[in-house]
Amino acid sequence: MRVLFASSEVFPLIKTGGLADVSGALPAALAEAGTDIRILMPGYPEAMDKAGAKRDVGLLGDPLAIGAEARLVSGKLPESGVPVWLVDCPALFDRAGGPYQDAQGRDWPDNALRFGLLSRVAAQLCTDGSPAKWRPHVLHCNDWQTGLAPAYLHAWEFLSRPGTVFTVHNIAYQGQFAAEMVARLGFPPEMYAVDGLEYYDSLSFLKGGLFYSDKLTTVSPRYAKEVQTPAFGCGIEGLLARRSSDLVGILNGADYAVWNPATDPHLVHPFKPGDLAAKARNKAALQVELGLAQNADAPLMVIVSRLNDHKGMDLVLGVLPTILGMGAQVAVVGAGDRALEDGFRAVASAHPTQVAARIGYSEELAHRLMAGGDMLLMPSRFEPCGLTQFYAFRYGTVPVAHATGGLADTLVDTGYDTLMTGTANGFVFEHCNAGAFRWAVERAVGLYAKKDQWKKIVKSCVSQDFSWGRSASRYLDLYKSLTDEAKGRRK
Ligand code: ADP
Ligand code: GLC
Repeated sequence: MRVLFASSEVFPLIKTGGLADVSGALPAALAEAGTDIRILMPGYPEAMDKAGAKRDVGLLGDPLAIGAEARLVSGKLPESGVPVWLVDCPALFDRAGGPYQDAQGRDWPDNALRFGLLSRVAAQLCTDGSPAKWRPHVLHCNDWQTGLAPAYLHAWEFLSRPGTVFTVHNIAYQGQFAAEMVARLGFPPEMYAVDGLEYYDSLSFLKGGLFYSDKLTTVSPRYAKEVQTPAFGCGIEGLLARRSSDLVGILNGADYAVWNPATDPHLVHPFKPGDLAAKARNKAALQVELGLAQNADAPLMVIVSRLNDHKGMDLVLGVLPTILGMGAQVAVVGAGDRALEDGFRAVASAHPTQVAARIGYSEELAHRLMAGGDMLLMPSRFEPCGLTQFYAFRYGTVPVAHATGGLADTLVDTGYDTLMTGTANGFVFEHCNAGAFRWAVERAVGLYAKKDQWKKIVKSCVSQDFSWGRSASRYLDLYKSLTDEAKGRRK
């Protein structure tokens, strides 16, 4: 089975969030299961460097007439060795800033062309116009940045096209652009329709993926149901409900090669999962590093997150006075909305021994927070899957989270019965408001003081297994269903 996996970010080459983690780990798990998989991504200079990309696969020309040539280069993921193809087009991808935004947090004005090119190349690699000999049986696209690839295959009416899978990691990001981009990107006008690329008088990359792909997935079963409702579907719930027989939720996994406290190079004191004494040494080291009071008994709540409303970070600021009143500590590593960043900075400077806020992105600190924390706060308003709860489990850090999306699928609230059966692995609240979140935090702090019971919860967290193998085999089944269908069509 040959699979082309297209994504705009891939760990450890480039990362802004969970999409990168998935795009690094899932292809590796699929390769391990015998799939001949290649990743396709933009040729950001940093990514080409880390992938050791040198060999030219071939020239791609200037398909979108931007006045600059693109070429396809190949490299490998550093640990797993999974082959990566990168679209090398310096005019679009070689710039100082992030993959989607400049250093000031403004979207790059030519994102439609940047990700239009990525999508177009993904489609081209599935046709006789490919500069490579290798052709996939399945094209697997991820999020809006690759959403136009299945639309190009439709527009070109290429007869022996591969099966297409589109995974929604977050329906709130849609890649919406002015209608004139439809022609500029080479689509015929009839594809700009409700049954097509049009979304509220604009071009939607995401809708292209959702409308033209054979199969759709989301990153948890609960989110697959949620996106079919107006509360979560961001205006696309109707299309998703109509396509529900092609839509499946496959839970993400965790890459335990990267998130293993026993071998974690970022920790001062690496520890075996479940070794609470060794975990306590990491907590003490973290308190020193962050300037928090040296207090082994104060519950240390950690946050590793983008700072925005989606993640419920305003709720954390609202509940902070209660948290501080209970004598707990909070450590945050995150970046995002300016007001929230400032909010966390302000509480940290007012209470430096109780709150630490490191505004920015730090992979190292993220690992140390998971290791040193007692609880992970995740009051997300919605959460397609969420990966940090998986990492917290492995590091013996107990999530306090809103029951939504993948959080609802992976967390078992602590109650009398779940404590008795040893299944409790977190503190969960149903209604996403400050009062419900506060109550969950209070329950967590209450249980933290009862050491024997807390140990039981941590034990249950540590014993969770979310390795990628199981999810990878679900994707393989889906790919196979597509290739079987194609065989059926040819008979
Ligand atoms: P999302 O993709 O919605 O941001 P996920 O939980 O799926 O949420 O994935 C977030 C990923 O990004 C995790 O690997 C998490 O550790 C990482 N992360 C988020 N913010 C930061 C940060 N400020 N510094 C380091 N890692 C971060
Ligand atoms: C998105 C979602 C997150 C999910 C990640 C990886 O960024 O917000 O919930 O875990 O994608 O699928």
